[in-house]
Amino acid sequence: MIHIDILTVIPDLLASPFNHSIIGRAKAKGVAEVAVHNIRDYALDRHRRVDDYPFGGEAGMVMLVEPVYRLITELKRHRAYDEIIYTSPDGERLNQKEANRLSTLKNIIILCGHYKGVDHRIREHLITRELSIGDYVLTGGELAAAVICDAVVRLLPGAMGDESSALTDSFQDNLLAPPVYTRPAEFNGWKVPEILLQGNAAAIEAWKFEQSLERTKRLRPDLTDE
Ligand code: ADE
Repeated sequence: MIHIDILTVIPDLLASPFNHSIIGRAKAKGVAEVAVHNIRDYALDRHRRVDDYPFGGEAGMVMLVEPVYRLITELKRHRAYDEIIYTSPDGERLNQKEANRLSTLKNIIILCGHYKGVDHRIREHLITRELSIGDYVLTGGELAAAVICDAVVRLLPGAMGDESSALTDSFQDNLLAPPVYTRPAEFNGWKVPEILLQGNAAAIEAWKFEQSLERTKRLRPDLTDE
């Protein structure tokens, strides 16, 4: 069982991804627990202010240190956290290896970045890991947090219908997955590769491996260079 606390200023944005699909099922099965917290509830003033102008006079707003500090302090009273993640385009790039590692942890906080960013003291003193989901800038870290949770939770035993399928994902062994087909065996004159129809398990495995290698070399040569 993994427990993930998400800290955000827009909790509504996360309702749908966390109540459906893999994460919804994992929650229902007791494999994962995801709690979304509104940073605004920990604001100091009655206007529930969570941001302010940056010192030094740049454009954009900066997330205040106090509400985030108060929320994280409250959460830490109940749990020992293995990782406190901040989602940001300047974080380390999320990959399958990191998703695998996170899936072995028990308690995780994910702080969703917003505005121009968070007061840097949060990153210096509270955050243990910064993750980016790619070299592009999102409006906020919520979608990145949803991506991280999905990639992690689906790896947990019992989260998926077919237990073995996470193991055969692309990237699990630095190879892209082979192509897959289903019925009909021929549509519109487009045929499924003959070998998949012949029932020779060893030959099929060999074919899949060949396809994986070929696709990886052609589409993602960087994966085999590592
Ligand atoms: N917040 C904004 N852009 C992001 C990105 N690419 N990855 C993670 N968090 C983000």
